[in-house]
Amino acid sequence: MEKLLNWIDARFPLTPLWESQWGKYVAPKNFNFWYYFGSLAALVLVMQIVTGIFLTMSYKPDATKAFGSVEYIMRDVEWGWLIRYMHSTGASMFFIVVYLHMFRGLMYGSYRKPRELVWIFGCLIYLALMGEAFFGYLLPWGQMSYWGAQVIVNLFSTVPFIGEGLGVWIRGDYTISDATLNRFFAFHVIALPLVLIGLVAAHLMALHEVGSSNPDGIEIKKQPKDPKTGLPLDGINSHPYYTIKDLVGVVVFLFVFSAIMFFMPEMGGYFLEANNFIPADPLKTPEHIAPVWYFTPYYAILRAVPSFLNSQFWGVLAMGASVVLFFFLPWLDRGAVKSIRYRGTLYKSWLAAFVISFLILGYLGVVPVTVWGQFPDGWPVLGGADKATVLARVLTVVYFLFFVLMPWYTARDKTKPVPERVR
Ligand code: HEM
Repeated sequence: MEKLLNWIDARFPLTPLWESQWGKYVAPKNFNFWYYFGSLAALVLVMQIVTGIFLTMSYKPDATKAFGSVEYIMRDVEWGWLIRYMHSTGASMFFIVVYLHMFRGLMYGSYRKPRELVWIFGCLIYLALMGEAFFGYLLPWGQMSYWGAQVIVNLFSTVPFIGEGLGVWIRGDYTISDATLNRFFAFHVIALPLVLIGLVAAHLMALHEVGSSNPDGIEIKKQPKDPKTGLPLDGINSHPYYTIKDLVGVVVFLFVFSAIMFFMPEMGGYFLEANNFIPADPLKTPEHIAPVWYFTPYYAILRAVPSFLNSQFWGVLAMGASVVLFFFLPWLDRGAVKSIRYRGTLYKSWLAAFVISFLILGYLGVVPVTVWGQFPDGWPVLGGADKATVLARVLTVVYFLFFVLMPWYTARDKTKPVPERVR
């Protein structure tokens, strides 16, 4: 084996690559629960690609055959049901893992200097992931696939001047049709997976260049070296220590994943919606159209913004802005410390308000706007909006204030001193 490795190394930098990216990568020794989700996201990415390849072997991207081919996979293809449920459960689990991974970033200020590019690559991954999920959702050609895509593509038609042409250009037709299905298939199975893999590689290379942060926000690269090991005082080798720790995470995750996949793959309609078990019917709009749960906070923001000057473009703009704002966090945060452990009440309260708004908006995006009905007569509500709409408006404002006021409240926050060594 050693001879073979030497032979390869003389022709390709295999050992240096392994050592710089993982084998000899030095990481802080105090990673906690929140540091599992990066490696879990990588695991789910691989799982989605492998199961996706097998699904593609039996799926037909043709408007007359797509729905039937998915049923065929579920009933006739050997282990087809398992592969399809792994892929559909994997989609939701991907977002759960990525949301927890991003929340870790907010808690510990992982996006701060020198990790701005790690964060920006992460945000690009998030955008690509949303595209990937959206394109994939059309493929089963169920009612929700069809009408969900109709609603989202119509949003582009609200863009002033070029909107109408833009919608037709995206669909390749005047409505969602076979042409749309074909191009969404191309995006879902090859274009976006390539982009995702490239971005994840860039994300990890950038991280391994600057080094990982940690729950204390202490830069271990600035610490003196331990004369015995030659490593920073609070650094340890990723391998074997974090290889083993991450494997524990993988085992626990696979238990949770399997429990969902084998016992509740539809997750009460949140992972697979009831309407999507009905073939797409362009002549019959479902009574209630809602995107899958991971898009619902943004959908709620879209619905919360009232139409202005007879245009719904403002809602679309707000929805776009609510995602794009994440990119600017490294420059909005003026805090003296990175980690929530040493932040004051101001940052903690705003982060809590943001997370609560995001979760409630997520709920409001699932239910019809009429869920709580109207305010009693005589209440001074703008445009006679429903109760749920008014709440969504308040939460949308809180969501945006978290970002917009960040330079102010992080600079004013009463922080605690950061210790020399990790806790
Ligand atoms: C396919 C999706 C993703 C994969 C496979 C992935 C993978 C990883 C891995 C393996 C790590 C190192 C281990 C860890 O810190 O957990 C990491 C760190 C990081 N990720 Fe991601 N990531 C993904 C998406 C994202 C997204 C969407 C964001 C933010 C918008 C993000 C932001 C970060 C940051 C800031 C770090 C550095 C953390 C630190 O050093 O404190 N990642 N990522």
